[in-house]
Amino acid sequence: MKIAPFELERYFAKYEFSVEHLLCCSDCEPLGMQELVSMADEETRTMWENLTLGYTESDGLPALRQQIAALYSNMAREDVFVAAPEELIFILMNTLLEKEDHVVTTYPAYQSLYQVALSTGCTVSKWMPEYGNDGFRFDVEQLKDLLCDKTRLIVINFPHNPTGALPDGDEIRAVVELARERGIYIFSDEMYRYLEHPGTERIASVCDLYEKGISLSGMSKSFSLAGLRIGWLATSDREILGEAACFKDYTTICNSAPSEILALMGLRSKERIVSGNLELIRGNLDLLDEFFQIHETLFEWKKPNAGSVAFPGLKLKKGAADFCSGLLAEKGVLLLPSRVYGSEWQGENVRIGFGRRNMQEGLERLDVYIRENL
Ligand SMILES: Cc1ncc(COP(=O)(O)O)c(C=O)c1O
Repeated sequence: MKIAPFELERYFAKYEFSVEHLLCCSDCEPLGMQELVSMADEETRTMWENLTLGYTESDGLPALRQQIAALYSNMAREDVFVAAPEELIFILMNTLLEKEDHVVTTYPAYQSLYQVALSTGCTVSKWMPEYGNDGFRFDVEQLKDLLCDKTRLIVINFPHNPTGALPDGDEIRAVVELARERGIYIFSDEMYRYLEHPGTERIASVCDLYEKGISLSGMSKSFSLAGLRIGWLATSDREILGEAACFKDYTTICNSAPSEILALMGLRSKERIVSGNLELIRGNLDLLDEFFQIHETLFEWKKPNAGSVAFPGLKLKKGAADFCSGLLAEKGVLLLPSRVYGSEWQGENVRIGFGRRNMQEGLERLDVYIRENL
């Protein structure tokens, strides 16, 4: 299979480990190993101490699958399949889609959410957000217009990367109804679940709402544990999980044994980890509000209602790509220009991340860059 380069990941590969300030990360402040282990209950600590480093069960550690199932209303351990999040996108698209299927996806998007389908020979339609007084919003009527007889899959990602958009309960149920009436699968990327900001209601997971709904989530974003490379699919469609297991024999076979135990520790400390991240996000969003108020002639800013990233627009003649490269060269600060999301996105936007502890330092450098150059 030939597949186009993943623009966002190539951008990060070039800069992530060499720049001084990352101002566009989507994951929350990574946890230290000692900090995580210190949170462990007796059972997981014993598992950790007695761990042997052999192959593991392909579907995932049973205790971990059980813990994951408890995150949902209607899922059992057998409805959960564990692998790395990005790997699961690749596996699911490959098992579910055939050449010439039609797929609809929220857009701008984490590229693999549509690129794997394109490489399989599918056609892809993009469901784009509108921008209004409340910021970015995906209109379900527009999704309806994109569906056709050949549509096999709707791919959604809420809270949305990069806009932070989150529909309400009625809207997500309307998406499910559209799919159910037509027998279409929904792949719901819920990597940023639990990062709903104060005053915003968490919507139900698609796997709990729909028999053909497959939810993706993982430890990377809300749980601050991207380095574990642990994620999961949750669905009551066990046939799909069986096919995913057959495909995984050609990717990683099974998960990293230490990562599975550490993920279990993380999930058992969910409230503590997530509430710490929400606290950090709240403080950072206050700083961003202040910053964008000062620079309101340069940026289009509406605070998102969920997630750890936002996608402010630039009101400059200079495009987002030029703006970001100047900032990087002069101040060593990394922002993500909208071009990495592909040419169909016509706006000039930058992705900014607000789940990290040192966000303020990056923002201060950005402020100086603007004052010196614009
Ligand atoms: C929406 C979305 N889905 C999936 C992933 C993949 O997660 P991971 O990097 O943990 O494999 C990401 C990572 O940035 C993402 O933003």
